[in-house]
Amino acid sequence: MSKTRITLNENDIPKQWYNIAADIEGEFAAPLHPGTKEPIKPEDLEPLFPMELILQEVSQDRYIEIPNEVLSIYKTFRPSPLIRASRLEKELKTPAKIFYKYEGVSPTGSHKPNTAIPQVYYNKKEGVEKITTETGAGQWGSAIAFSGAMFGVKTKVYMVKISYDQKPYRKALIESYGSEIVASPSRQTNSGKIMLEKDPDSPGSLGLAISEAVEEAVNNKGTKYSLGSVLNHVLLHQTIIGQEAIRQMEIAEEYPDIIIGCVGGGSNFAGLAFPYIIDKINGKDIDFLAVEPASCPTLTKGNYEYDFGDTAKLAPSILMYTLGHEFIPPAIHAGGLRYHGSAPQLAYLVKNGIVRAEAYPQTEVFNSAVTFLRAEGIIPAPESSHAIHAVIKQAIQAKEEAKEKTILFNLSGHGYFDMSAYSSYLNGELVNPNNG
Ligand SMILES: Cc1ncc(COP(=O)(O)O)c(C=O)c1O
Repeated sequence: MSKTRITLNENDIPKQWYNIAADIEGEFAAPLHPGTKEPIKPEDLEPLFPMELILQEVSQDRYIEIPNEVLSIYKTFRPSPLIRASRLEKELKTPAKIFYKYEGVSPTGSHKPNTAIPQVYYNKKEGVEKITTETGAGQWGSAIAFSGAMFGVKTKVYMVKISYDQKPYRKALIESYGSEIVASPSRQTNSGKIMLEKDPDSPGSLGLAISEAVEEAVNNKGTKYSLGSVLNHVLLHQTIIGQEAIRQMEIAEEYPDIIIGCVGGGSNFAGLAFPYIIDKINGKDIDFLAVEPASCPTLTKGNYEYDFGDTAKLAPSILMYTLGHEFIPPAIHAGGLRYHGSAPQLAYLVKNGIVRAEAYPQTEVFNSAVTFLRAEGIIPAPESSHAIHAVIKQAIQAKEEAKEKTILFNLSGHGYFDMSAYSSYLNGELVNPNNG
């Protein structure tokens, strides 16, 4: 009989992160300095990040060692399980086999600690006293607050206002870890004040919260900034997911025909997919599907061009799919997917047809989330539910075509802090702003 839950033991945790830059060598354009517009040099990034992370950002090494201090915290929740969604398969009466990597088992409920832990570790090692960051859904802010507590580093989170209001218990969790948290736009930075003057009721956005966190970091010695997605080193740390998944799929004696993940900046998708990309480059037929909200359709409707990573143009300009750094996405419940840009490495793969993207409206997404919940028992984060919606569509298509197919997706987080969104859905109050 096939296994339902495929686990590895703690000694099987990968000891290295996988760096896709080594396999798509020299193809990624360098970020540009926000002031001079010249290609950025490692020292330009020093006010923001510790040197070890900057070197990872530009590294061409295929594998990078995971420090023991990081592994010892990974071991408290990794390897994460790979689960066969056989009850969902039955519910959908599909011939497809569905597997998911469940990242909701981390202490804060998502894949985000996979990079928060090493980021805080390298900052601590280089003597940084305080880390500022942004958060959309609250998952990233929780992960940084948790990691700050692990290493004794102060943290401050600028939380996008709409999510701050929608999720008071994320705020309470972040504070419980000992972190400071403010709603963005705030009056604590120039970027925040300018936005509040323009629109006192601004719901905020990830782009603006990034500006506020960057501004505080560059203006204060001993303070650096940390980003939860998009950058190469963040995607690098997340590859622990895909490396584990490859071993677990081998144990299941399966190989994925399609790999699916939701995309905000691209880190959980990349984490699962990147270790498999080399197989596609070497000729394997794998369909990589990135899923985003219809109201923030970066990969499906954005332009592939240089743009700033944040609203106030303080962060470097990067070559990516973008809706424009001034785009403020509608207040959908998947706060972690409300980002105008995308990871340059992922954008490059989309541009070159190695990864494709689809966008769905949130009512359809919640419908699929509830189908998954009632079959599998886990309440998914609204972000992850975008991937689930794509999985269900694929499984139904497999049934219609009477085709066997192996689907692997990333269940990037649980939705225990998103119950107000589920209440709105169940009460019939959920709408699709701008068809999203
Ligand atoms: C559970 C969850 N999944 C996905 C995302 C999207 O981010 P990324 O595309 O970097 O994985 C977020 C972001 O906050 C999240 O909280």
